[in-house]
Amino acid sequence: MKIQELLSFLRCPSCYSSFNHDKNCLICSNCNERYPIIDDIPIILTNEEIKDAEIKKIYEELYTNVKEDIREQKNVPSHCFDDLREIENLNIKNKVIVDAGGGRGFIANNLVDDVNKYIIVDLSLTALKELKRMEKDNLFLICGDIQKNIFSKEFADIVICTAVLEHLEDPNKALNNFKNFLKEDGELYIQVPVINLPFKEIFLYIFRKIKKRDIEEVKKIHLRVYSTKSIINDLNSVGFSISYLNYIPIIKEFNLTRLEHIFYLLFNRSLLKKYLASSIQVTSEKRGME
Ligand SMILES: C[S@@+](CC[C@H](N)C(=O)[O-])C[C@H]1O[C@@H](n2cnc3c(N)ncnc32)[C@H](O)[C@@H]1O
Ligand SMILES: [Zn+2]
Repeated sequence: MKIQELLSFLRCPSCYSSFNHDKNCLICSNCNERYPIIDDIPIILTNEEIKDAEIKKIYEELYTNVKEDIREQKNVPSHCFDDLREIENLNIKNKVIVDAGGGRGFIANNLVDDVNKYIIVDLSLTALKELKRMEKDNLFLICGDIQKNIFSKEFADIVICTAVLEHLEDPNKALNNFKNFLKEDGELYIQVPVINLPFKEIFLYIFRKIKKRDIEEVKKIHLRVYSTKSIINDLNSVGFSISYLNYIPIIKEFNLTRLEHIFYLLFNRSLLKKYLASSIQVTSEKRGME
C-alpha cells in the first residue's frame, strides 16, 4: 500500500517522530498528533494552518477554476524554464525526487515516468486530488507546508522547487529543510523570478503604472522580489553551492514566433542576458557543514 511507503519518509512536524496510521489518519508514534488522510492524501497541516494560510486559499481557488483534465496537460508549455533534462548535471533517471510546491504538476507530468519516486508536496488539496487522476504508482502526494520539517533525513536525490520560494514567508526555512532531507550528494533545482536591474524599485514602479491591476494581483502572492545575487546569497548561507545558473528571458514564457526566436538566440549570447532575464534556473549541490 502506498501509505506504508509514505510512512518510511514522512515525519511528524511537531516532534520529528515517525507516524503510524489507521484508515483515516496518520498518528504520530510519539506525540499522538493526528493528521487526516483524504483520498489517500495525507494532510500534514494543523486546523489553524488550513484556516489561516492566505496563500492556500488563493491557490485552492485558482486550481478549482482550472477546467483542463490533468491527463491532457502534457503539452501545456511550461512557464519560464527549459526542460530539466537539458541540464547536464541533473540526472533524474531512477532518482527519488521531491517537488516542493509542485502545484498542478507541470514538471511532474514530464518527469514522472523516468524516476523511481516522484513526491509532490503542496498546500493545495485541489491540485493534489487532480494529480491523483494520473494514476501513477510512483507518484506520492502530500498536502503540507514546505516550511515545515516533514521528511526523514537524507532520503531524496533531487529537490525541485519552481516558482514557489517567492511565495513563502520564510524561504530559508524551506531551503534548510531541503538540505536536511536531501542525500549527501543530493541536488536542488530551483526557478525563481528575478529583477537584476539597478534600482529595481523604480522599474517595478513604472511596470506597476502600466499594468497596475496585474501587478496588484502578483503582489498579493509574491512576498519578495529576488535578484540573482540575493537568491545565490540565500542558497550559500544555507549551505548550497551553485553548480549551474541560467537566465530565462521574459519571452520564453510564450510560444516563440520565428522573429522572437532570433531575438531569443541573440539574447542568449548577449551580455544583457542577466539584466533582461525575468527569472533564473539554478541547480545547487549540498555542501558539508563548514
Ligand atoms: C506559482 S505555483 C508553482 C507551481 C509549480 N511548482 C509550477 O512550477 O508549475 C506555486 C505553488 O506553490 C504552492 N505553495 C505555496 N506556498 C506553499 C507552502 N508553504 N508549502 C507548499 N506549497 C506551497 C502553491 O499551492 C502553488 O501550487
Ligand atoms: Zn509528533
